[in-house]
Amino acid sequence: MAARVPEPRASWALLTVCTALLCLCQALGGRAAAAAEGEEEEGAAEAGSVPLLKGSALLLLGCLLARCCGSAGGGPRPGGGWGPAAARRGALEGFHARRLRLSPHVLGHSKAHVGRVVAELVRAAKAQGLQPGPAALSLRGDFVRVGSAYEQHKVRSPDRFDVLVPLRLPPRLQPEPRRAATSGAFVCGLRAPAGSGWPRRYRPFVEGFCAEPHGRQLLSSALVLRWFQGHLQRCLGAVRYRLQERCRISLAVCPGRPPTLHIRPCSDYVCCHISMAVRLIPAIPLGDALYLTVPPHDVPGAGPAHEALWGLDTSRHEQRLLAWLKEQAPASSCHLKCLQLLKGLRDLGGQRLEEPFCSLWGRVLSSYVLKTALFSLMLHGPLEAWDEQFLVERLEDLVMYLRDCLRKQTLMHFFMGNTSLPEAVALPRFLKEAAPVNLLSAFDGATLDLVAFQLLYTWSQAPHLIRTYSRARILQPAACRHGTETRHELPGE
Ligand SMILES: *[C@@H]1O[C@H](CO)[C@@H](O)[C@H](O)[C@H]1NC(C)=O
Repeated sequence: MAARVPEPRASWALLTVCTALLCLCQALGGRAAAAAEGEEEEGAAEAGSVPLLKGSALLLLGCLLARCCGSAGGGPRPGGGWGPAAARRGALEGFHARRLRLSPHVLGHSKAHVGRVVAELVRAAKAQGLQPGPAALSLRGDFVRVGSAYEQHKVRSPDRFDVLVPLRLPPRLQPEPRRAATSGAFVCGLRAPAGSGWPRRYRPFVEGFCAEPHGRQLLSSALVLRWFQGHLQRCLGAVRYRLQERCRISLAVCPGRPPTLHIRPCSDYVCCHISMAVRLIPAIPLGDALYLTVPPHDVPGAGPAHEALWGLDTSRHEQRLLAWLKEQAPASSCHLKCLQLLKGLRDLGGQRLEEPFCSLWGRVLSSYVLKTALFSLMLHGPLEAWDEQFLVERLEDLVMYLRDCLRKQTLMHFFMGNTSLPEAVALPRFLKEAAPVNLLSAFDGATLDLVAFQLLYTWSQAPHLIRTYSRARILQPAACRHGTETRHELPGE
């Protein structure tokens, strides 16, 4: 994070300014002297001061040019008051304020609403379950808020949320996660203590929820997901009735994906009329705030082997790390703003791209990849460097860091196998001992090179792209009837 201001250029500019000021003083001094000495001298004094004024104007112009060249070559400067560096900062700040930043008020209301509705649904779904027995899967009865809306870096509109819904295996049955051959994925074996009647007693469960791709009983993410979808659908009627005064709810179910709960608040219930979509992700608790979840993407060529694959969710540890960073960094730290801007620039950059590169661009530069890059970069250097005044430099560091990762085709999962994390964010053994995972391993070198190139282009053209492509209207939160923004900030649920 070395400062990028080129020294010689900066001192030359300074010299120019000083000379210009000197000339200006001389010129004014000359004028004053002439006025004092009488009228007959005026012509001569005039003749002398005009070239001097011209000279200082020229020098000022030169100084301006020097500044322009300096910042074009050397990158933006901290708190530059004028010139392209300031224009770039202004464009980014404006973009953030108008397009990316969420109103804490509207976000607070949305979160509160989502929390209430999901709690009702989960409670109903838990109650409707069978009696916990050796054959049944059930809900634990709580839910875990994850994702950007709960980490304060969501962009644009507070209308999408992710929630983990922990499930409960039959009594005494323990999940046994292991790394699958596919990079980053896990399989989940099952284990029960001696004397629990395993496996005979659990046969109905195994038949209902396990896949045996290699002759081993593995919990099937596909079968668990299908059960979860059906179970929620069965409970929805009762919940819908109970909530009818507050909102309309519906459940969108797509094969192979976590169901999405759509919430449309009734007009007189909440002030901020935003429809919300909540992804309800079934999750197998592993302890230590770790969960196995259904993999987020359908993998091409998904077959019976894929049905047994799970992803490892480390959201709670990411939230802990973010909380720790917030505590350690200066109060005015801009790291979350940088992440929001990076996501915004990614989306702007994507608008100009054609398929299939457009969707590759989005998949390579996923929000998770961007967040991981931020974590790595932040822990490399002093956190004071993230003070708000260095916003543009830090954003540029992030872009360059990502570019390097793309060129090296390597960006490691921040937690898996990382033994050098600060004490304060101590990881559970399972994560520490896990083999490291490269988040970019699914993409080939040519794709990553292209993304790196586009990323640099997007960064260099950022002010222009912001002007050109961000004209689309965005959601304007309706004025709140219950109070003003500052009075009514809800604590994040
Ligand atoms: C592991 O954590 C350290 C911070 O202590 C960080 O600098 C490093 O990049 C992390 N490793 C990986 C692979 O992300």
